[in-house]
Amino acid sequence: EKKKSTLCGKRCIVTAGATIEPIDPVRYITNHSTGKMGYAIAAALRARGAEVQLISGRTVLDTPVGVERIYVLSAEDMYREATQRFEDADIAVMCAAVADYTPAKVAEHKIKKSDDDMSIELVRTKDIAAALGAVKGDRVLVGFALESDAGVKSAQSKLKRKNLNFIVLNSLTDKGAGFGVDTNKVTFIDSNGSQSLPL
Ligand code: C5P
Repeated sequence: EKKKSTLCGKRCIVTAGATIEPIDPVRYITNHSTGKMGYAIAAALRARGAEVQLISGRTVLDTPVGVERIYVLSAEDMYREATQRFEDADIAVMCAAVADYTPAKVAEHKIKKSDDDMSIELVRTKDIAAALGAVKGDRVLVGFALESDAGVKSAQSKLKRKNLNFIVLNSLTDKGAGFGVDTNKVTFIDSNGSQSLPL
């Protein structure tokens, strides 16, 4: 079935995948995001006629046909690309699993081990979705929330805090949802309420 071109002429940015926060030239901090959700959304937006820029962290996925991919590493890189590209966008979908903390400094050389324990000082990263929300105007901004419990309440507060049009709540505990699977089970939440969809 041919998709209706309901988004013809719309410019969309989608963030997807995991960011990589370097510790030294060898090690980094990341998370389990595969990028599947964001890549599927980028492809779906394209199928409906949108012009799509996919700002992607680490992933093994191929770029969806007709989509422009911008590959980034750290949360800071993703922030820079997303805030710049948002200026000319109509729609932004924030699917990426952005690191919340990053090493305060990146060691220039591989850190040598000693017999002692060690710790790494972490500092907060910038919230990309919230930064876009602050300058949103009449653009459409969509967020995602991955919660292990009390999802709806916490997603509602993110909706407000980040000034999103709506937020898609994923549960880690639902069967068929979570990392790396081809199915998902989500709840859409906006200022009017929430709607849970089947698997
Ligand atoms: O606050 P939390 O990380 O749960 O919010 C999730 C939503 O915010 C997702 O849409 C995610 O892509 C986005 N986000 C972001 N930049 C961050 C953290 C989260 O864009 N630094």
